[in-house]
Amino acid sequence: MFDLVDIHCHTLFGIDDGATDENTMKSMLDTAYSDGIRAICFTPHFKTYEFDDDSEFEDYRKRIDDSFSVADLYVKEKYPDMTLYLGNEIMYHNEILDSLKAKNCTSLNGSSYALVEFQPSTSAFEIEAAILRILRTGYRPVIAHIERYNALIKKPSLVSELRNMGALMQVNARAILRFKFGKISKFIKQVLKNKQVDIVASDAHDNTVFTQQLSKSMLFVSKRYGESYAKKIFSTVPKAILNNEKIH
Ligand SMILES: [Fe+2]
Repeated sequence: MFDLVDIHCHTLFGIDDGATDENTMKSMLDTAYSDGIRAICFTPHFKTYEFDDDSEFEDYRKRIDDSFSVADLYVKEKYPDMTLYLGNEIMYHNEILDSLKAKNCTSLNGSSYALVEFQPSTSAFEIEAAILRILRTGYRPVIAHIERYNALIKKPSLVSELRNMGALMQVNARAILRFKFGKISKFIKQVLKNKQVDIVASDAHDNTVFTQQLSKSMLFVSKRYGESYAKKIFSTVPKAILNNEKIH
């Protein structure tokens, strides 16, 4: 069994719609550790339209830093072999690159990989244009929970087009286990079979069994699509992202 690496979760408390308080955050960290996760990158939502002015950005960053300090202290004492990192799940917007430059939001562990999400209804054209724009400025986008976008579900060939451009594809662990029938299930099976998923992450928002399913999902993928592929998308690639290594 290899170490699991989770690069998308909302475990930091008091920031977004993730952990509501310190105890919830700590119980989520306990669950993550017992699930076999040894590296976590916290990715609080970053939605630029939620900020009215610079002081709100400052307040947001301060809350993240404070919450991270609590998590870091807890993990260092209780789980010294687990490492914590910081990033954001960035809702795509036109000023995304200005926000990254101004450090109002951050890429995954400050690497050249940025976790980006879109609205479920964003068109294929808009997604392609956005990916191109991010790539041109030197960041490699990791597209969060690709199973949520109608444009990709309708036209799965877009996944290979986006990967050829340089984007990386992330799927949520629970989606792999949850969708047994229907178009989302068909889409997930197809991209896994074609080995077009680059990363699986928890996207955990709370401590329910429903959200904390990384190891269960890894075993499912390992059995169906092979252990080496499971290792790659649950451990090797997410680790390489956090280390800012080049991924082919
Ligand atoms: Fe998320």
